[in-house]
Amino acid sequence: MRVSTGLDKKILLEEDHIPKNWYNILPDLPKPLSPFIDPGTNKPVDPRKLEVIFSKELLRQEISKERFIHIPEEIRGVYRLWRPTPLIRASRLEKDLKTPARIYFKYEGVSPTGSHKPNTAVAQVYYNMKEGTNRLTTETGAGQWGSALAFSGMLFDLDVIIYMVRVSYEQKPYRKLMMQLFGADVYSSPSKRTEIGRKILSEDPNSTGSLGIAISEAVEECLHSEATKYALGSVLNHVLMHQTVIGLEAKEQLSQADDYPNIVVGCVGGGSNFCGIAWPFYYDKIFGKAPKQVELTAVEPTACPSMSHGEFLYDHGDTGRITPLIAMYTLGHNFVPDPIHAGGLRYHGVAPSLSLMVREGIVNVLAYNQLEVFSAAAQFLRSEGIIPAPESAHAIKAVIDEAIRCREKKEEKTMLFNLSGHGYFDMKAYDDYLSGRLEACPLPEDKIAQSLKSLKNLYPWINA
Ligand SMILES: Cc1ncc(COP(=O)(O)O)c(C=O)c1O
Repeated sequence: MRVSTGLDKKILLEEDHIPKNWYNILPDLPKPLSPFIDPGTNKPVDPRKLEVIFSKELLRQEISKERFIHIPEEIRGVYRLWRPTPLIRASRLEKDLKTPARIYFKYEGVSPTGSHKPNTAVAQVYYNMKEGTNRLTTETGAGQWGSALAFSGMLFDLDVIIYMVRVSYEQKPYRKLMMQLFGADVYSSPSKRTEIGRKILSEDPNSTGSLGIAISEAVEECLHSEATKYALGSVLNHVLMHQTVIGLEAKEQLSQADDYPNIVVGCVGGGSNFCGIAWPFYYDKIFGKAPKQVELTAVEPTACPSMSHGEFLYDHGDTGRITPLIAMYTLGHNFVPDPIHAGGLRYHGVAPSLSLMVREGIVNVLAYNQLEVFSAAAQFLRSEGIIPAPESAHAIKAVIDEAIRCREKKEEKTMLFNLSGHGYFDMKAYDDYLSGRLEACPLPEDKIAQSLKSLKNLYPWINA
């Protein structure tokens, strides 16, 4: 193995360095997670009841207390198409910012579909295929998760049905085409295909949709079909765990550069790319293996600020209230965010494990509006040449701000962020940015207050 001189632009690993195990944070959480609750009985849900929608192995992983879970060779074989992903030193951005900080990013945009999402899509489709599932339903916001599942379905010969949030379906026709090329069926959500979709359209024919609505449609279709299961692109423990290949590789790459982060940053929709890069560093921290104090910083949009302005409550994962109640930071399942271009961050809740870590003060939270996010994206792409996904640009904004603080305080911090995806299908967003049509979409305080109040009124026995 060649060790980097610390001056390399890219730190690359050989294919046999693709991790052999995922890191499962469950045994290492500061407190146990609260159980899912069935609102019909007010009692914890028996995980076996969820077998109608999820694969057995994924449910086993969901609650497993094993710290490391073996990655089957068939999955590592597919990971080889793009993993290990490069760790890149953003030296040109550092120069542009005149900062003494060292900035590294893990570039997940090199996957076949352009983001971190295939890391879990491949695993989810693989386990479903092994258990005899023929068809998977899912939702997608910006289209990154839908493309990843469509791609994985094609590899393992499973049919994939995708409900794509209407605003993204209209803003991103080429994402839809990508999913269709991989063989998936794609529907604009809310749709007339499901009961919940028809109900929402009858109340608001112009609904722009949300991830919460699209999840309801996908779960409803799964419940009414044979040999069909449902796949989720974020939030659940097994999804976050599959993404830890990102942080595990990044640690090895940084050690080659003889460096270690003071700060690890990622954007948050449901939490999977952030947790994927951050949890392996949390592991170092609690087992005394971290050579420095490491801060973990999660970034969200002001238009959908679940962690910074939501409350830690029991809520449904979907708008149609099909899923059990989950303890998490939420804006309320009826909250429909403004149609910001970071479609993958328009989710009302946040992964339970991440919610817990935010509540315990282990993870810091920042929120930005899309105008400031796009100007950070523009500064990044002008120095590093990669057009970031609008979601990932939230992390870039946080890193640029911190790098400027380092310049002012003459501090030599090391920063690591996850460039969770490229933005080559987001040209409409960049067009709006360049032509001055982009709106800031600030904090919708009244809408949040109203949505949280109705959630508390709906379940006062658990959300007092
Ligand atoms: C590029 C990109 N980054 C981040 C996200 C947010 O999801 P998560 O918080 O699960 O990583 C998405 C979701 O679609 C995405 O497409």
